[in-house]
Amino acid sequence: LRTEKDDTMTYENPPSATGWSAPTLTVVIPTFNERYNIAPLIEKLEIALAGISFEAIIVDDDSPDGTAELAKSLAAAKPHVRCIHRVGRRGLSSACIEGMSASAADFVSVIDADHQHDESILPQMLAAARDGADIVVGSRYTGEGSSTEGFSAGRQKGSEIATRLSGILTGKALSDPMSGFFLLRRSLFNDIVPRLSREGFKILLDIIVTANRRKSGKVEIAEIPYTFRPRFAGESKMSALVVAQFLGLIVSQISRGILPTSFLLFSLVGASGVLVHLSVLTFAFEALSFNFANAQLLATLVAMTTNYLLNNELTYADKKLRGRRFWTGLLSFYAVCSFGTLANVSVASVLFESQYANFLLAGIAGATMSVVFNYAVTRIFTWR
Ligand code: GDD
Ligand code: MN
Repeated sequence: LRTEKDDTMTYENPPSATGWSAPTLTVVIPTFNERYNIAPLIEKLEIALAGISFEAIIVDDDSPDGTAELAKSLAAAKPHVRCIHRVGRRGLSSACIEGMSASAADFVSVIDADHQHDESILPQMLAAARDGADIVVGSRYTGEGSSTEGFSAGRQKGSEIATRLSGILTGKALSDPMSGFFLLRRSLFNDIVPRLSREGFKILLDIIVTANRRKSGKVEIAEIPYTFRPRFAGESKMSALVVAQFLGLIVSQISRGILPTSFLLFSLVGASGVLVHLSVLTFAFEALSFNFANAQLLATLVAMTTNYLLNNELTYADKKLRGRRFWTGLLSFYAVCSFGTLANVSVASVLFESQYANFLLAGIAGATMSVVFNYAVTRIFTWR
């Protein structure tokens, strides 16, 4: 037994008397309402990975359909199945990160629960990683891989555009950087996990970009083709919200994380608020013949309310306020925005009067100031 402090010390005993040893591969399965998919998927994994020691970690965000309970009953019956049951949080990327963080295996991988990813290529993916690839991607678009079966035409076009956009980011001719099916060494994951974004759907893209920024040079990526299958049971969680979050992630990556995705979404919502404000103002003033002050007050209230609703749905979908906290959140949002408006008007007036800025520049500076202020302060008081 060593008693001196040694930060590099790891526990390296041979497999214990219980006969248990760490698996070689962890397969993370993020789930939201996938009750009817997980048991058959585990069976498919057992067949595909016969002879390879693996564990499956199901990361469920408290699905209303009871996926977590079912996953736990599977875990009770099978030592190679575990369940992380997250309550009060949503999000595919953060679920994948949490699953991989719980792994003690040499290699970690992620696969969707709905059987769209072909689990039978996992041994090939593992072999590629053992041969030296840093990240192995299950690809719908390379070689014999096909994407035609599982997607609608519109979704396929969107997927192509997203693929091209992310090619600009990764600087690599990757055929499927949007894949949700991949495998990497756990040590590499450990290196980069502090810098990964927890927002949105596109975890692989983020892993590649982050890994490329390490000092030790660009990562080597291998792609293994497979045929994308139709969903087995249940329905997709892809939505307009997910697309907006993805665009936010791209801009956030281009700014090297200086602008968080949530700030970009917050600003976008703010811009929509200006439109709402002007529409209500016009309507109340012109059509309802309100006096200007009342019309302006009404427009401000309506715009603050729509901003709150949109931010709660979009920007902070992962910590959405409900029930009583929805209403206290709304009140705190009104309060913060009122201060923000004060800050806006003061900054703009000072700038305008100092003659350093014309009215347009002063106006923009004031508005920017209030967005930054509202963003920072609502993160403290509203969406904690
Ligand atoms: N824990 C958790 N929390 N899991 C989630 C959440 C969430 O908020 N949202 C989705 N999932 C799980 C689903 O239950 C499913 O197992 C997996 O993530 C993928 O979700 P789908 O709703 O089936 O997404 P998709 O089929 O439209 O898109 C997927 O496949 C594409 C192709 O590989 C995603 O993985 C995309 O990122 C990927 O490009
Ligand atoms: Mn799917």
